[in-house]
Amino acid sequence: MTAPDGNAIQVDWELDWERFLPTQRPNNKCYEGAESYEQKFHDILESILNVKAPQSKFVLQESSLFTINQMASSPLALELIQFIIRSIGAKKVLEIGTFIGLSTMYFAEAVQPDGFVVTIEKFQDFAEIARANFVANKLEQKIELILGDAYSVLASEKINSAFDVIFIDGNKERYADYLELATDKDRNLLSERGIIIIDNVTCHGDVLNPQQQTAKGVGVLACLEKIKSLSESEWQTALIPFHDGQIILRRA
Ligand SMILES: C[S@@+](CC[C@H](N)C(=O)[O-])C[C@H]1O[C@@H](n2cnc3c(N)ncnc32)[C@H](O)[C@@H]1O
Repeated sequence: MTAPDGNAIQVDWELDWERFLPTQRPNNKCYEGAESYEQKFHDILESILNVKAPQSKFVLQESSLFTINQMASSPLALELIQFIIRSIGAKKVLEIGTFIGLSTMYFAEAVQPDGFVVTIEKFQDFAEIARANFVANKLEQKIELILGDAYSVLASEKINSAFDVIFIDGNKERYADYLELATDKDRNLLSERGIIIIDNVTCHGDVLNPQQQTAKGVGVLACLEKIKSLSESEWQTALIPFHDGQIILRRA
């Protein structure tokens, strides 16, 4: 795999790739059903974990430009993030990329009673729908939506808090810059025990291409390079393998 600067991303050990996901044969060899394993696994997870469709969990105004399936994180991943938020007793969550506010509302539900979510969205149409959704679900008191370009907002004085969770899900082209700001001790966006969650880390497979086909793919790959460059003694990382993949980071 090649990084944007032309250098190969070096991997110094071999993960047993055939055991990487539960859907790979060594991990599902006992399954004998007629339906596809992936479908069955998904359905069982949804029913056992009681995962609800976003439309039945929230009163939702949707966008005519993109569907929830196209733009929002998967409910399984969002419920895992709720789990993390509750487990660490997070009070403050920062989100980059609101869309219609679905992930924002999952986070607002999970923060401490005196907690809140700050979310940044560049496009007015999405921001208006998101604001209406926050009100319709009585979560507007816990959410501040900042309309603007996320990098400009984060680089400005508009935000001068340290957050317990930072969810990076905005324009992929600037992922590396967002991670740079989130991990910068001087900028102090992340609380001491804070967690960073980066969505869409394969960029729908584009980061795996020998040459990335899109600017988004180049951006996400640059972010992965940035993760790799973080000191191992200072940062701990892990993968959430739902949907398009999410990487989580915390200070070691
Ligand atoms: C993948 S969607 C977010 C989905 C949402 N977090 C969820 O899971 O429900 C990405 C969002 O980032 C917004 N966006 C794109 N460029 C941006 C920028 N420069 N600053 C802030 N938001 C941006 C898009 O308009 C879009 O709503």
